[in-house]
Amino acid sequence: KRLILVGPPGSGKGTQSPIIKDEYCLCHLATGDMLRAAVAAKTPLGIKAKEAMEKGELVSDDLVVGIIDDALKKPSCQKGFILDGFPRTVVQAQKLDEMLDKRGVKVDKVLNFAIDDAILEERITGRWIHSSSGRTYHTKFAPPKTPGVDDVTGEPLIQRKDDTAAVLTSRLEAFHKQTEPVIDYYNKKGIVANLPADKPPQEVTSEVKKALS
Ligand code: AP5
Ligand code: ZN
Repeated sequence: KRLILVGPPGSGKGTQSPIIKDEYCLCHLATGDMLRAAVAAKTPLGIKAKEAMEKGELVSDDLVVGIIDDALKKPSCQKGFILDGFPRTVVQAQKLDEMLDKRGVKVDKVLNFAIDDAILEERITGRWIHSSSGRTYHTKFAPPKTPGVDDVTGEPLIQRKDDTAAVLTSRLEAFHKQTEPVIDYYNKKGIVANLPADKPPQEVTSEVKKALS
């Protein structure tokens, strides 16, 4: 399967991705995770992306299209993929169509994580992540066994720099202005499944499986 996950910050894309990935043997490509790794490693890409990310604005289309074009070449992505956080502008969606046309494949389904903005601040400000694996926790909704520590490796958890109420406001603005038109783009192709992303995580997982069956 070739899937796109679209939804505002904190809607649960990164939480559901590993589950879908394992269920259908797909690769998980999250542009946000890849960009954060580039920023941490101070690569040329990371240096260019850092400022926009810290402000909660989108990174330029050329940069993210480049990373996806490279990532789609990986052998693990040939059977199918989950794009988490890409495309985020109509230009990115058009470029993706061109990349997939070249490879003779197309997107099967766009999962739209539908949720009210009002719920997202609590989700974002309570999030803790294990940066090397991408595992995500929440102080209230998905607490680790020991506070501040990853369940699997015992390594410390961190908070994302952009996970503040103030930066969330810019991220939501970018979502409504630039990313909601992407949902319309795929609605015209008739491949969007709307998921109620405000339900508990396990219920969202069942909705995802229903949409993909
Ligand atoms: P990115 O990393 O993609 O961030 P985002 O879209 O803002 O999404 P999040 O990762 O915040 O949310 P999520 O939906 O994954 O939520 P999660 O599952 O973790 O992008 C970061 C930045 O990179 C952008 O601002 C931009 O600058 C740049 N960028 C990335 N892609 C780009 C692109 N294509 N073009 C241009 N720029 C780009 O859940 C959140 C919390 O809630 C967790 O703590 C979790 O435990 C909890 N939770 C999850 N589900 C539930 C539930 N059902 N009930 C209760 N709690 C839940
Ligand atoms: Zn995420």
